Amino acid sequence: MSVGANAVTTSVIPQWDRTLLFEILDNIHDVVLVLDSETTIVYANESYAKILGVPVQKVLGRRLDHIEPKAIAIEVLRTGATHSGRSYLYSVGIDIVGSTFPLYQGNRIIGCVSIFNNISEVVQLTRELQLTKGVADYLQEQLKQHEPLPLSFQEYVGKNSRLRETLVLAAKVARTDSTVLIRGESGVGKEVLARAIHNCSRRKDKPLIKVNCAAIPEALLESELFGFEDGAFTGAKKGGKFGKFELAHGGTIFLDEIGDMSVSMQAKLLRVLQEKEFERVGGTKTVKLNIRVIAATNCDLEKMIEEGTFRRDLYYRLNIVPLYLLPLRERKDDLKSLAKKFLDQFAKEAGNELTLSPQVTRVLQDYDWPGNVRELQNVLEHASIVCSGSQIEIQHLPANMISTSNKCQTSKDKPYDLKDTIAKLEKELILAALANCNNRSSAMKALGISRRAFYDKLRRYGIEKQEKTDG
Ligand SMILES: Nc1ncnc2c1ncn2[C@@H]1O[C@H](COP(=O)(O)OP(=O)(O)O)[C@@H](O)[C@H]1O
Ligand SMILES: [Mg+2]
Repeated sequence: MSVGANAVTTSVIPQWDRTLLFEILDNIHDVVLVLDSETTIVYANESYAKILGVPVQKVLGRRLDHIEPKAIAIEVLRTGATHSGRSYLYSVGIDIVGSTFPLYQGNRIIGCVSIFNNISEVVQLTRELQLTKGVADYLQEQLKQHEPLPLSFQEYVGKNSRLRETLVLAAKVARTDSTVLIRGESGVGKEVLARAIHNCSRRKDKPLIKVNCAAIPEALLESELFGFEDGAFTGAKKGGKFGKFELAHGGTIFLDEIGDMSVSMQAKLLRVLQEKEFERVGGTKTVKLNIRVIAATNCDLEKMIEEGTFRRDLYYRLNIVPLYLLPLRERKDDLKSLAKKFLDQFAKEAGNELTLSPQVTRVLQDYDWPGNVRELQNVLEHASIVCSGSQIEIQHLPANMISTSNKCQTSKDKPYDLKDTIAKLEKELILAALANCNNRSSAMKALGISRRAFYDKLRRYGIEKQEKTDG
């Protein structure tokens, strides 16, 4: 290697020579490694020894493809393409970053130069940082789950982190007078949340008045909400009647199933919410409104707006703080504590203790819960009545659940075994029929099979024995 024509000649460096060049290379903090075309190491600077921990004399003349068969330099010699970036030296176990470029003589590659440095420490620190970040994220999540909620929220069972976010927001908004719109499928606990919000607000000592917009016939809704004056219409009660808005004065009105309100009623409601005053039906006196509004629905209001069945302006009026409650199937981590709450409640009523068998726990976990928490509550109530012992077994669950649950009950090792699956389903349906019918004859009838077939199956599935041990 000779000094190139581009080398600068100044008074500081009066004369380039081989010794001076190598001295410079030896003082560079990066490793400089030169290979010939056969991957033989022809030069390594002092940093090589410092960084790789191997004396230079030990590697000079040795082939790199023997020492470090996966070295980038070997690839560079083969392809002639410069490489820069990160790689790893297996022979010494360090991460490096740098570049390797080929040396040409004419068109021929005669060797290559690698210049790199050890970044193991950086890599290690990055890894530690990522780990710390992971731990921090985890702790943050934990913290969220333990963020104290107001007392009124404590009957609301829910540790799931996404649900928890909603509850924390709900607790925050509860202290304001803002309108709240609670969204979520039927049975997720919208009403429970509305109550918690009211009980945590400064209006808690005033009434919380619920209006189920879906249950009241359209013709009556107006007088239900606004009340009426004496003689407002034929059949109107003498002395008139207070409407729900008046009853809720100073407190909260909970407009449940708001998506089921007719468009004309929506217009009237909007006017009241905007003007904060109204007149009773058939009356002339204006009543001032001092209420907080919480609305709830399981309808797709956005779609209804597109279809023209829900007023956009009312939507904006209500949608100031939307709270979305997750369906139970998306927060099954709460199933156990919800089940426990209900079981404790039913057990207390019956004066005994109740637990779930492992199989029942699995069925509950696998089930899709279209009716959400309400359905869970009903299922457990049913089971607690049917069960005479202290442990709820599969046959105590409602029949529809057992047959559905059977879809997930195929054996893990034989998931498509028809005979096996049908036998299981058959057995559980028989157990359910026995549990739900007064006697064997009616169970037989419910199953729609002959007496002989019925007893055959009882024997085959060992049900007789089980029934006896069950008491
Ligand atoms: N998170 C919860 N913790 C305790 N009980 C709940 C919870 N969510 C729902 N429930 C119970 O489930 C039933 C249905 O709740 P509800 O608020 O009426 O649902 P929605 O109004 O969404 O249809 C009620 O009996 C309620 O007590
Ligand atoms: Mg409801």
